[in-house]
Amino acid sequence: MTERPVIEVLGLCKEYRDGARTIAVLRDLDLELRAGETLAITGRSGSGKTTLLNLLGLLDRPTAGEIRFSGIAAGRMGEGERSAFRARTVGFVFQAYHLVAELSALENVLLAARVAEGARWIFGARRSRLWARELLGRVGLGGRLGHRPGKLSGGEKQRVAIARALVNSPQVLLADEPTGNLDAATAREVEDLLFGLAGERRLAMLLVTHEPTLAGRCGRVTLLENGRLVRGNAAGR
Ligand SMILES: Nc1ncnc2c1ncn2[C@@H]1O[C@H](COP(=O)(O)OP(=O)(O)OP(=O)(O)O)[C@@H](O)[C@H]1O
Ligand SMILES: [Mg+2]
Repeated sequence: MTERPVIEVLGLCKEYRDGARTIAVLRDLDLELRAGETLAITGRSGSGKTTLLNLLGLLDRPTAGEIRFSGIAAGRMGEGERSAFRARTVGFVFQAYHLVAELSALENVLLAARVAEGARWIFGARRSRLWARELLGRVGLGGRLGHRPGKLSGGEKQRVAIARALVNSPQVLLADEPTGNLDAATAREVEDLLFGLAGERRLAMLLVTHEPTLAGRCGRVTLLENGRLVRGNAAGR
């Protein structure tokens, strides 16, 4: 039997209200992604790439259509179930890192584990701490566990964000312009980490990027245009 896709998107629509006007950003969009597959999403500014990622990351709800994770429909879940499911299923890496400034690198990673474990946290704390340390070591920050984001470089901050995205062993990794704020050499290092870790874990990885080199490393490249995904090339056109 063939494996069920990790992500299945069917007829996804997203409209925003702007006063009396309605803006349709995503229109009947379909998508499938299997374990171990990497997909780049390119497209003009304002085409809806972040909107799509936020929907896939269960940070926002669609106007219509369905998103399934390994066959489980996310739309039918209530808020509480949804946030627990999100924490376990999806890892997110943002262009601007989104780390908590008052927390150390280790604490930032642990916070994500804590959200996923909820009431069970007290029992999981020790194991999570070991795992978070191991992951930070893996992204090359074993010597900076106690540093706050303000004392880390952009590349280091993004490494913390990658460790945070992976701490709950998600099936899906979503990254919105993950190297957009980094210089070329640092961007390559962060890309290597992302692809290395995603490959080892057979993650379904979806990257939004304007950078042809990054898009070119993905198994598939799509272009978001007129609210749907069409076949693109690495140049994003
Ligand atoms: N919360 C919102 N309310 C109203 N309109 C929104 C909202 N979020 C996004 N939009 C609009 O939806 C469209 C798509 O925005 P989105 O941020 O998804 O684009 P994008 O492809 O990620 O662009 P960029 O490449 O600049 O990041 C834009 O026209 C934007 O103005
Ligand atoms: Mg965007």
